[in-house]
Amino acid sequence: MDPGAPDPGIIARAAALLRAGELVGLPTETVYGLAADARNPAAVRRIFAVKGRPADNPIIVHIADAADLSSVARRVTPLAAKLARRWWPGPLTLVLEAAGDLPSVTTGGLSTVAVRVPDHPVALAVLHASGLALAAPSANRSGRPSPTTAAHVLADLHGDVALVLDAGPSRVGIESTVVDARGERPVVLRPGAVAGADLGLPAEVGLPGAASPGTRYRHYAPSCRVEIAPIGQGPTMAAEMAALGPRVGLLAPGPVPPGVTSLGRPSGPSALARCLYAALRAAELAGLEVVVVEAVPEEGLGAAVMDRLERAAAR
Ligand code: TXA
Ligand code: MG
Repeated sequence: MDPGAPDPGIIARAAALLRAGELVGLPTETVYGLAADARNPAAVRRIFAVKGRPADNPIIVHIADAADLSSVARRVTPLAAKLARRWWPGPLTLVLEAAGDLPSVTTGGLSTVAVRVPDHPVALAVLHASGLALAAPSANRSGRPSPTTAAHVLADLHGDVALVLDAGPSRVGIESTVVDARGERPVVLRPGAVAGADLGLPAEVGLPGAASPGTRYRHYAPSCRVEIAPIGQGPTMAAEMAALGPRVGLLAPGPVPPGVTSLGRPSGPSALARCLYAALRAAELAGLEVVVVEAVPEEGLGAAVMDRLERAAAR
């Protein structure tokens, strides 16, 4: 569908399916989400089942408007109100004490809830039309790269999802920043599309896995080996690896050496964010054995892109 003018009939169908407890694949500005009614425990349990997601990994709740925050959070702290005003709709997820009526399956058994207002006209239209808060993790099977197109969602979840809304490739390409906003200072639990430095306050970095369960698990893992090349070294490293025999793919702005398959030539952090997950999936489909990805400076979005890249490369 055209993200600029979402078809009201299709939006109404998605809303009706969600109200009936079905799962719907939804575009957001970051990645595609697998949405269900956040207050329907059976529907949320199905998200865990179809993703193969560990039950202690809670799901982000999406709301239509910052004004709805007090319906899912027990207490909206001044910090949360300030960050919501600055960033919503947008790729910042706030962790707060959860409202009492949220099912524990949605919060992974924690007393807290992670919430955001997505900055995508299709996601917002579905939120408004359904009148629901929508639990929506990334719409990949657990351990696979997050989906940035509707085709990626179908590749992982075909048959397990009632409807996927296709609004073209995700604009950002990596997931939201998750911030604990219960205290006076933001604590970054997962780096993401909003850089820590842009939070407008000195931010702390949470201990990995301590408060954001999802960061404990190996993520974004394609079946081929991922190697990170230093800045400027992508083509050289790919050529060296290809000379040893394996089928090598390259994701880097420089020239593509002979015998190496190009997976794209993104220049800079935001371009790499947009195409990284799609390139990892394409490499798998092409049967490549090694993917060389050239690093980007760890500034702004670059820190989050390098976090995802390092997870994909972890062995
Ligand atoms: O951009 C995004 O955030 C996408 C789109 C669809 O909104 N969603 C997404 O969801 O990436 P998911 O489930 O793949 O990742 C959610 C992350 C996990 O690391 C999870 O552990 C963390 O948020 N999280 C969820 N609820 C939490 C909570 N109550 N406290 C701490 N971390 C939480
Ligand atoms: Mg995910």
